[in-house]
Amino acid sequence: REKVTIQTLQTMKASKIPISMLTAYDYPTAVSCSSDPAIEITLVGDSLAQVCLGYKSTTQLTLDEMIHHASAVARGTTHPMLVADMPFGSYHGSINDAVNNAVRMIRESQIEAVKIEGGEEIVELVHRLTSIGIPVMAHIGLLPQRHVSLSGYKVQGKDASNAKAMVQTARLLERAGAFSMVIEAVPKELGRYITEHVNIPTIGIGAGPWTDGQVLVWDDAMGTWLGHKAKFVRRFANLQTAREVGVQSYANAVKDGSFPDPQRESYTMDQTEWTQFV
Ligand code: KIV
Ligand code: NA
Repeated sequence: REKVTIQTLQTMKASKIPISMLTAYDYPTAVSCSSDPAIEITLVGDSLAQVCLGYKSTTQLTLDEMIHHASAVARGTTHPMLVADMPFGSYHGSINDAVNNAVRMIRESQIEAVKIEGGEEIVELVHRLTSIGIPVMAHIGLLPQRHVSLSGYKVQGKDASNAKAMVQTARLLERAGAFSMVIEAVPKELGRYITEHVNIPTIGIGAGPWTDGQVLVWDDAMGTWLGHKAKFVRRFANLQTAREVGVQSYANAVKDGSFPDPQRESYTMDQTEWTQFV
């Protein structure tokens, strides 16, 4: 399959072919995301913090940790476009610091684009990054990096005035140069409205079936995350059960002496060598 480009995604929006995006945090999941030609974008989400590193919140993730994991994902990525989240705090200071941090992510991790949560307050940064050739995926709606100021992980844009403000934000980010945007946890009607009123591909998570694409967190989709399950999550596999069965069978086989098998899973010393040895 050919490398997915910004142009590929634009063509898909125009032809109404849904875009599939999935997160990855390490080399093997990156390889899995690359194994299906129908995955267009691999995202090193800062959900890395919770589902992979065991932090309580994405706000604990550092830029160095993101770069470390994104590098591993890059080594396993083939055709999908590779996008990574700018971690909390890495784009909130000066524009110059944010640019330097984005450059580090691209140079040290070999990712292709950065994703940034926010609205009007990041417009100047989005403009600056895109103007120097760093593609930006915007992220609107529920912004998990702000879960404290938002009083939790709640559906956004449920009332008319908030919905209107979000449409304005989407347009501003498009005008600033974002090549795509994630819309998280909004009513499906708003997901559709924004999708129809911007020219860049929208990728929804909990934004209904009518966005240009969908994204899920790997561990939610594969059933390896045992924490809170949001309404918008569907489990497409139950890898946790498979893992537990595997661990149990391994431990049992060690305990009952059936692993390793002396023939199939052990090395044998040459008979003459053995005689000399003993
Ligand atoms: O961090 C993440 O995984 C994300 C996606 C769910 C959009 O931002
Ligand atoms: Na994220």
